[in-house]
Order: sequence, then structure tokens, then C-alpha cells
Amino acid sequence: MENLEKESAIAQDYLARIAKEAEAKFDEHLPPVSDRPCRLHEAMRYSMFAGGKRLRPGLAKATFDMFGGKGEKIWLATSALEMLHTFSLIHDDLPCVDNDDYRRGKLTNHKKFGEATAVMAGDALCVQAFELMGKTGDAQAIELLAHLLGTYGMIGGEMTDIECEGKTVDLEIVDYIHYHKTAALIEASLQVGAMLAGADKKSIEAIRDYGRSIGLAFQIVDDILDIVSTTEELGKDAGSDIEKGKATYPSLVGLEKSRERAHELYEESLLALDRLDCDTSILRAIAAFIITRVK
Ligand code: IPE
Ligand code: IPE
Ligand code: MG
Ligand code: MG
Ligand code: MG
Repeated sequence: MENLEKESAIAQDYLARIAKEAEAKFDEHLPPVSDRPCRLHEAMRYSMFAGGKRLRPGLAKATFDMFGGKGEKIWLATSALEMLHTFSLIHDDLPCVDNDDYRRGKLTNHKKFGEATAVMAGDALCVQAFELMGKTGDAQAIELLAHLLGTYGMIGGEMTDIECEGKTVDLEIVDYIHYHKTAALIEASLQVGAMLAGADKKSIEAIRDYGRSIGLAFQIVDDILDIVSTTEELGKDAGSDIEKGKATYPSLVGLEKSRERAHELYEESLLALDRLDCDTSILRAIAAFIITRVK
């Protein structure tokens, strides 16, 4: 445990450092509020700059550097990934989805700007992300990202999450939801970083497997925190899952078994990294952070 905490502290320092650089690029890559439609641009920026761990940019940059990537194109991808993530959060919070009031310690986008603007801010962030990815010139990375975001990825997971509300489901379905709604974008962030660095197929496969493990662990921990934490600590509505009868890990196997499963996935993620012959220390640290995080 002590070691996990040490590793986690390393990851948090790393993520904070990358967040600073990535956020300066978000500002460059987002349309200014002075351009029309001003209120839409304001809503996009509101959610993008509300804070957040910036995990997906951190994963992409760490992987890009690990595989010897050079140049500025990674910052196009880090902006795109955070825009896609923020799009998913804005839409996830809508009254017709999770109906939540707080996100990243502030009012949710629809609470602040109204539903129509929130829907469009999410759509616009998604489209803007692909415009930026286009500038990388890497067709394979763009295709992979679109795939892992679409009906075979994040959107597929979100759809099934909604369909399963209030129903009794088995673990196979919960795994499907979690792998798709959350692990897919985490996996995509790592793979895009690797592809932009020109990593070989075997390395990309290892990084994908690491991503699947930490991605599922990430959502299991999210489910746990929804129960054991508070809205103040999380910056988003605690207790939201039970209120909506969501299909979560704790609802199916209880808190203790959920914690054990997250730990197992952590170990599995390290095994995937063992298949690589480069310095994987930052990704190891991030895996430790994912299972010990409190928000
Ligand atoms: C929240 O993601 C949504 C899930 C996938 C569980 P994060 O916990 O990464 O949210 P931010 O970016 O730090 O706000
Ligand atoms: C959402 O899962 C994952 C995505 C936004 C794609 P949750 O609904 O559990 O995320 P939170 O708890 O609202 O952040
Ligand atoms: Mg949800
Ligand atoms: Mg939600
Ligand atoms: Mg949640």
C-alpha cells in the first residue's frame, strides 16, 4: 500500500505538469468567445477549463514520449482527447442521461447554459476534436479514435448504461458497459500517443491491453467513489448511481469485491507493460494512481 501511494504521488505530479502544458494548448485550439456563436464558444470553454485530472492527455503524452515521439503533433491529440472526454461528460450529465447538477466542482453545462446549448457544446467539442486530429495527418490514429468513440466504443457503452438502468444485469453486461463507456477512450488515448510516435504493432497491442485493464479499473473505482465519497470531495454528484439504479460493480458484487477486482486489474496492467522493452515507469505510476485515487 505504501508503495502504491508513492507511485500515485509520482503520477499526480506528472499529470499536474502535463495538465499545465496541455491546457495552454486547449486555449489555442478552442474558438475564442469573441467569435460567433459567442455563447456556444463560452459553453465549450466553461467545461474544458472547469478542471479535471487531464488523465487522457497525460496518458497520450506519456506514451508518445515513451516510444520516442518527437515534435508538436502530440499536443493536437491531447487537446482532441480532452475535448472528446469533455463532450462525453457534458452529454452524460444531461437530464435525459444521468441528470446531474455538478461536474468538476461547478454547475454542469446544461445547468449553467441550458440544455440546447449543452447538447451543441458537446457536439461542437466532438467535431473540433476531429478537426485537430486531421491536422496530425495520421489517418490510422483518426480511424481508431473514431471507432473507440462510436457505437463500438464510448457511445455504445453509454447507450447500454442507459438501457440497463433499474434492471438486474449480470457481470458480463457491466463489464461490457465499463469497457465501452470508459476504457475505450483511455485505451484510445494510449494508442493514439503510440501511433503518433510511430510505435510498432506489438508495442501498440501491449499498450492497448494495459489501457483495457486500467480503463476498467478506472470505472470500478468511479463506481466505488460514487458510494463512499461526497459531492464536495468529488466535485460531481455523489450517490448518483444508486439514485438511478445504475448497473455498477458495487451494486453487483459489493464494495470489497469491487476493490479486489480493481487491484487485480492493476496487476494485469503491469503484466501488459512487462511486454515492452522501454521505460514504463510513468505508466506504472499512473496505474497505481488509478486504483488509489480519491476523486
Ligand atoms: C469521469 O472521468 C467520467 C468517467 C469516465 C468515470 P474523470 O474522472 O477522468 O473526470 P475528470 O476529467 O477528472 O473531470
Ligand atoms: C460516464 O460514467 C462515462 C462517460 C462519461 C462516458 P459515469 O456516468 O459513471 O461518469 P460520472 O460518474 O458521471 O463522471
Ligand atoms: Mg453515466
Ligand atoms: Mg454520470
Ligand atoms: Mg460515475
